[in-house]
Amino acid sequence: MTYPLMPNYNRPAVTFVRGEGAYLYDESDKRYVDWLAGIAVCSLGHAHPAVAEAVSAQAAKLLHVSNLFGSENKMEVATTIDTLIGDGSSADGQVFFANSGAEANECAIKLARKFGGRGKHNVVAAFQSFHGRTLATLAATGQPQKWEVFQPLPEGFRHAVWADLADLENKLDETVAAVLLEPVQGEGGVNPATVEYFAGVRKLCDERGILFMIDEVQAGLARTGRWFGFQNFDIKPDVVTMAKALGNGMPIGACWAKESVARAFEPGDHATTFGGGPLATSAARATLDTMIAIDAPAMALAASQTLSEALMGLDAVTGTRGLGLLMAAELKDVDAKAVAAKCLETGLVLNAVTPTALRLTPPIVITDDQIAEGIEILDAAIKTVAS
Ligand SMILES: Cc1ncc(COP(=O)(O)O)c(C=O)c1O
Repeated sequence: MTYPLMPNYNRPAVTFVRGEGAYLYDESDKRYVDWLAGIAVCSLGHAHPAVAEAVSAQAAKLLHVSNLFGSENKMEVATTIDTLIGDGSSADGQVFFANSGAEANECAIKLARKFGGRGKHNVVAAFQSFHGRTLATLAATGQPQKWEVFQPLPEGFRHAVWADLADLENKLDETVAAVLLEPVQGEGGVNPATVEYFAGVRKLCDERGILFMIDEVQAGLARTGRWFGFQNFDIKPDVVTMAKALGNGMPIGACWAKESVARAFEPGDHATTFGGGPLATSAARATLDTMIAIDAPAMALAASQTLSEALMGLDAVTGTRGLGLLMAAELKDVDAKAVAAKCLETGLVLNAVTPTALRLTPPIVITDDQIAEGIEILDAAIKTVAS
């Protein structure tokens, strides 16, 4: 039979059929330690009982009504997001719910254009950034090699060298509505921002009436050791997007904006059929409530320390970088892709984020034993590939 899936992904080597915490199981019930969590998605681990119960109860009650009507969970989740952005008290913002990270960013981009008005529509992002695969978010993504075959892309995007304030300043003029940055570039190699860089961006944006929009799709929701990555850098953004961890695997995205910015939208300016529906928000509500109850940011920090110390104990690891559990391990004299493939064969899930670095985004609830188990598999895989 012809393979019925489009060839935009390579054929997968493994099919997972169930999970529990930081473990995954394939069709033959072989167990894997999961150091990827669906790329920073399942932060509470697989099949978390609170999320599973919330989703199944909601599915049995009401799946969908349309955003023309009110529905359960949406208000509670929006309020919680606003409080987490304010680090414990309201940040005076409003939320639009979407179905993915790219859609959350589409909302941010449209909001910036509406807020800026005609002639003030450009968005400045960084090289090596990743903001999604829709045409606008691809144009925002600072990786020209990904643009080429899809030209012409929507106009209105510029790129500045990452973490270079002078270059960013050069890209700003009266046509710029917003700067869009990740707090840690995830897909771009796990490159954290710095306090100086983000403070400088905030100052430039304030001086010129430009929005500072933060893409927290990968870094957001406890993974970096703070509720949001930007909180590590002590600035207050105007717009924040999030997705991956928000539903612990249930597809949901959100764009938060300060009320003074959000009110640029009027009824009909932006919409979605599924975004913010009762099912996805039931998962988000259970996820956020659980994260708050277990103090997920503190757990992420503790696990990240254990993981980075264990990684540094391996001869082939020359360094780790990142923030919290959004981490990369730089390898010497061995191909990271080959190591990741060998790990998968031998029961550890991770991915190569550059030719020389592995990306580690395990569930925040990973235990010390599961870290130790993964380290043993990784050590053996590196030695096999190196020989
Ligand atoms: C920082 C960032 N923004 C946006 C996206 C796009 O999210 P999605 O794949 O849910 O559209 C990603 C996905 O990896 C991401 O890491």
